[in-house]
Amino acid sequence: MSDTAKLNVGGKDFDYPVMTGTIGPDVVDIRKMYAQTGAFTYDPGFTSTASCQSNLTYIDGDEGVLLHRGYTIGDLAEKSSFMEVAYLLLNGELPSSDEMDSFNGTITRHTMLHEQLATFFRGFRRDAHPMAIMCGVVGALSAFYHDSTDIHDPRQRMIASHRLIAKMPTIAAMAYKYSVGQPFVYPDNSLSYTGNFLRMTFGVPAEPYVVNPVVEKAMDRIFILHADHEQNASTSTVRLAGSSGANPFACIAAGIACLWGPAHGGANEAALNMLREIGTVDRIPEFIARAKDKNDPFRLMGFGHRVYKNYDPRATVMQKTVREVFESLNVSDPVFDVALKLEEIALNDPYFVEKKLFPNVDFYSGVILSAIGFPTSMFTALFALARTVGWVAQWNEMITDPDQKIGRPRQLYTGPTTRDYVALDAR
Ligand code: ACO
Repeated sequence: MSDTAKLNVGGKDFDYPVMTGTIGPDVVDIRKMYAQTGAFTYDPGFTSTASCQSNLTYIDGDEGVLLHRGYTIGDLAEKSSFMEVAYLLLNGELPSSDEMDSFNGTITRHTMLHEQLATFFRGFRRDAHPMAIMCGVVGALSAFYHDSTDIHDPRQRMIASHRLIAKMPTIAAMAYKYSVGQPFVYPDNSLSYTGNFLRMTFGVPAEPYVVNPVVEKAMDRIFILHADHEQNASTSTVRLAGSSGANPFACIAAGIACLWGPAHGGANEAALNMLREIGTVDRIPEFIARAKDKNDPFRLMGFGHRVYKNYDPRATVMQKTVREVFESLNVSDPVFDVALKLEEIALNDPYFVEKKLFPNVDFYSGVILSAIGFPTSMFTALFALARTVGWVAQWNEMITDPDQKIGRPRQLYTGPTTRDYVALDAR
């Protein structure tokens, strides 16, 4: 693309600079457009809009590529750990051995929650959805950790980021424990981030809990796969909330609220429910037909993505991880067979081929989380736990971006024009 884009509005020509990143599409810088032309751009769903500059995550949806700070998701999932990826996203580079030790130590020391928060949990109904609890508890953290809410102080920003990453597993595990009526399990600093989370979730005070290394590795990988995904709906929500100067805990609570929707993070729960509803391979054609029927709102959950018009690289790793966990735990679940067959049939069906609908990260994640022992209601909470790393990294990047302004889109107004007020008794 040339370095200028031309636009003709109302018969007049305007030139707009074209900005080039390191990879990916160029962007046309239209910041001065309204002032010069008096017109806005119209882009519901932001399908053609770059809302910021970012050096964290790159996605090529056509090629099915996902990079964090330049490293492929395949390499990170295979060779790295969630804590290392968290460090990478927050700090820009992979840590040295000393830096890793120090980061692990910092996160480990922040895993406990203010004891008063246990009382806060008890205000919820026992059957509350874990995401409802997480939204509430994370939003309330600013009341408990007020000493890290000054967003203009880089040290406070980093403390708040560490606190959020460290406390999220404790909060998610407590939400689970509360729903099943078991006592909360305090963190154990001798365990890894992921091992500690498994123990807080599945351990009980009555007996020792031994972390299964295969499950720990699989869970850690699932966290890596969910760590960040550039300017998706929940991350954009965190950035938009943060653009007003809101405190980080409130911003992450906003991200959790957005993630909960079935078109976003709620899809892993919906995907497993759908696979269970299908139940057997012979019923797949019926559901494929429903997904293709314009008059039926049903969609194949875990299929399709706004950005990926190719196989989601995270789904590839997820499918492999399901096999590993099933083999090592010697378990099987007919739902996995249904998923494999459904994928095969859909990928060969002209409807899905033409619309470039492929399995996304959520298609297989439910199968594996269920095998590990999580109820479906916890799936999105686990996503939120992992995505907190991306959210805080993106939030920090936004705060330090000199181009950052309060997010304030405009609109195409289609309501009534000015009219006279009519008194109530005359209407
Ligand atoms: N099943 C059947 N048809 C689908 C599906 C699906 N899962 N997804 C999209 N389509 C069809 C739509 O009906 C539409 O058809 P049309 O052009 O004939 O009207 C076309 O494909 C394009 O779909 P849009 O909804 O316009 O695409 P968009 O980019 O807005 O939506 C989304 C992407 C929301 C992910 C969509 O594919 C979907 O609803 N998938 C199921 C939910 C899901 O798995 N979400 C998880 C996403 S990953 C994540 O958030 C971590």
